[in-house]
Amino acid sequence: MADFVRVAARSDIPEEGVLGVEANGLRICLADCEGAVYAFEDKCSHRDFPLSTGELDADDCTISCSWHGAVFDLQSGRPQGLPATRPILTFECRLEGDDVLVALPDS
Ligand code: FES
Repeated sequence: MADFVRVAARSDIPEEGVLGVEANGLRICLADCEGAVYAFEDKCSHRDFPLSTGELDADDCTISCSWHGAVFDLQSGRPQGLPATRPILTFECRLEGDDVLVALPDS
């Protein structure tokens, strides 16, 4: 069961940028892709590097890890090529006013 938890203010996420936050003991990354917000675990599936330091492609809605360059689709979490072979965790996300709410597993 997942609960929606407020993790940030919408206005804290840079336009077409990313914001790393912590909630329920998880590191979460929030990304603005052309006005929509996506939430995913702030951890590359290759070597656990923080994806919040990566480069967002807001047009394609992907992020590339800054360590070895793996690229992940932010809607599905799937890697688009090596060296990552496993998906990253993605979370359902919704906006209420300026609040960003993310469905996180119970801690
Ligand atoms: S740690 Fe992200 S690609 Fe290697």
